[in-house]
Amino acid sequence: MQKNILITGGAGFIGSHLVRHMLQSYPDYHIINMDLLTYAGNLENLKDVEDKPNYTFVKADICDAAAVQAIFEKYQIDSVIHLAAESHVDRSISNPLEFVTTNVIGTVTLLNVAKSQWKGRDDVRFYHVSTDEVYGSVYDGEFFLETTPYDPQSPYSASKASSDHFVRAYGNTYKLPFVISNCSNNYGSFQFPEKLIPLFISNIVNEKPLPVYGQGINVRDWLWVVDHARAIDVIFHKGKNGETYNIGGKNEWRNIDLIRVMCRIMDQKLNRPEGSAEKLITYVTDRAGHDLRYAIDPTKLENELGWEPSLQFEEGLEKTIDWYLANQAWVSRVQSGDYQKYYAAQYGERLGS
Ligand code: NAD
Ligand code: TYD
Repeated sequence: MQKNILITGGAGFIGSHLVRHMLQSYPDYHIINMDLLTYAGNLENLKDVEDKPNYTFVKADICDAAAVQAIFEKYQIDSVIHLAAESHVDRSISNPLEFVTTNVIGTVTLLNVAKSQWKGRDDVRFYHVSTDEVYGSVYDGEFFLETTPYDPQSPYSASKASSDHFVRAYGNTYKLPFVISNCSNNYGSFQFPEKLIPLFISNIVNEKPLPVYGQGINVRDWLWVVDHARAIDVIFHKGKNGETYNIGGKNEWRNIDLIRVMCRIMDQKLNRPEGSAEKLITYVTDRAGHDLRYAIDPTKLENELGWEPSLQFEEGLEKTIDWYLANQAWVSRVQSGDYQKYYAAQYGERLGS
């Protein structure tokens, strides 16, 4: 069976891992990667697979209906796996409208084209890759289920919740076949160094302060990005239309505990005296509206579709640190451009510099 799959946001962190995974796993599929190459998108992330005969890259904006339609027509798209988004909570706090534009209007633009191009076909699928942050924050001992009511608390999660609602509304109103997954925090190679793990690795290397928001007691549930890509593959192929699947590795960490583990590993890898990296920890003003705890219950995905994570966190974290240490040139390249301006605006006042 030949499938022509449009993956949006394939030059980003999770998207590039998904594109690689799909190209390697399904040589019969044609993977069309559509990405605007914003600050977060980088074709270098796909250098190792870009020559595959079943891979096509198109630079385009998901908000540009004409461009999306041209791609659907030219490549006879029969499935969409939609990841393109603005993805960083801190940026959503400074610029919420950009998140509405990309995450909401962009998603609805894609849905409109899919609806008109597919005209009631049931052998097609629109897969929206979403986040567990749509559920808001949970107390200790509670977990996000697929039935947990939406309660987004940041402009980022509100925009993702909105796009999830639009996908479901198109399924209900226009019978567009869809599936949605909501995943916990990802970590791994090629993550833009503005998110906690790669930012702190980079700062430790450069002996810069590690800006811990608030008291560092917020809890996140971490999953290796390759296991997310594997889960998307399973849901794409075996998930039921109209269903939602939560993805997570039952791997909760308080930020400060995770940061201390990273500090210990980094001291060893960099041959620095024990405790060097921890000295860089600097408690700074908390993120506005900072969600206290995210925790996924992935039972439905495990029981119904047979997915489970392949890697233990400690091993994944070490692999990730090794990757960043071996790819400092990549880090420098993605941190050029506007990154320094972003960093100064985000952390300058907090760090008193
Ligand atoms: P990312 O920021 O690394 O990548 C986003 C990609 O989208 C970039 O390549 C960017 O160039 C592209 N893009 C942005 N605006 C675009 C536009 N208008 N048109 C076309 N392309 C555009 O994000 P990520 O961390 O890889 O996340 C991917 C998806 O997964 C997002 O939808 C995010 O909400 C979701 N998600 C992320 C996480 C996580 O921990 N990172 C967890 C759960 C879900
Ligand atoms: P992040 O990687 O931005 O992911 P998300 O906000 O989507 O969960 O942040 C992970 C956690 O780390 C979150 O609780 C905020 C915290 N954090 C810091 O303490 N300092 C930082 O500089 C960053 C970027 C995040």
